[in-house]
Amino acid sequence: MTSTPYPVPARMTAIAIRAPGGPEVLVPEERPVPAPGPGEILVKVEAAGVNRPDVAQRKGHYPPPPGAPDIPGLEIAGTVVACGEGATRFALGDRVMALVAGGGYAPYCVAHESHALPVPDGLSAAEAAAIPETLFTVWHNVFERGGLKAGETLLVHGGSSGIGTMAIQLAKAFGARVIVTAGSAEKCDACRKLGADVAVNYREQDFVAETKAATNGAGVTLILDMVGGDYIERNYEAAAVEGRIVQIAFQGSPKATVDFRRIMLKRLHHTGSTLRARSTADKAAIVRAAGEAVLPLIAAGRVRPVMDRTFPLAEAAAAHARMESSAHIGKIVLAV
Ligand SMILES: NC(=O)c1ccc[n+]([C@@H]2O[C@H](COP(=O)([O-])OP(=O)(O)OC[C@H]3O[C@@H](n4cnc5c(N)ncnc54)[C@H](OP(=O)(O)O)[C@@H]3O)[C@@H](O)[C@H]2O)c1
Repeated sequence: MTSTPYPVPARMTAIAIRAPGGPEVLVPEERPVPAPGPGEILVKVEAAGVNRPDVAQRKGHYPPPPGAPDIPGLEIAGTVVACGEGATRFALGDRVMALVAGGGYAPYCVAHESHALPVPDGLSAAEAAAIPETLFTVWHNVFERGGLKAGETLLVHGGSSGIGTMAIQLAKAFGARVIVTAGSAEKCDACRKLGADVAVNYREQDFVAETKAATNGAGVTLILDMVGGDYIERNYEAAAVEGRIVQIAFQGSPKATVDFRRIMLKRLHHTGSTLRARSTADKAAIVRAAGEAVLPLIAAGRVRPVMDRTFPLAEAAAAHARMESSAHIGKIVLAV
């Protein structure tokens, strides 16, 4: 045995999902520390981001893909403490932030080296852990799939969410105009402070009318939608001719009765994607492209995760309860 400056214990206490249910089913459980396989790194986790899909997983609606850990947690930040066979991108001791298919709510977590980025100087572990899932989701769906260009107008539903706050900053940084929807005056204010040109309180205003008013009747070129349900038809109304709509979730119903004539009359494009189920190579390509485009903006302080609150790992249940209350603005993080 060679001695290492980063000794790794055999076992750890992670947060597991005891059974599908409310936040209280998130319980500490002793587990073996995972071993990194070929191309993988073992990260000593300092912080893990909480995402809405974790809540869906906890309720039993979003099972981990085959081969992924059953421990929740899709993004982490920490220190590389072991490298699997052929993993050469990072050295022991490097600070990384990484996308993982599960296992983040734990003191140690394995990530594929191609799904990790170096933590830019000046970023805390909590801030770094708040980045991967939102950055890669927004990068892929807004820029790669949605094709957002400078001068176009993006409508982001859920502007104050973890995803939304990243979308606002990136769209502005790349020269687009941004309209958001959010559920309170406070959330609308937070979105405007981040750079949103127009914020629509969807509980009091009709986002279709407001979007038309803000675009001289033309409608928006791109919509990032996480709501679905009756928003699907209303998105078709709010979109410009040749407008694009990218679906990333259904917080409302995934089913709707829709008048599809608008697709023909406006020549709309409606697509969508989900990150977790993508292949290792697909994710690596997204991570590489997003890293090249956005790490310099993060390092320059032009893009920053919006931090709502950090909870200790042992209080993961409270973190989920906060997310489900929808009182938060930006990212909720667990400190490990
Ligand atoms: N496809 C993918 O690859 C992928 C990856 C990551 C996340 N996601 C999805 O992206 C969404 C955001 O994730 P997150 O982690 O950032 O969660 P989050 O912070 O909890 O965001 C959810 C947001 O939805 C908003 N919302 C709910 N109903 C709305 C409505 N009718 N109109 C407008 N906004 C509404 C909430 O705002 P109010 O309180 O203002 O209503 C809240 O800001 C989730 O649905 C998640 O599942 C998808």
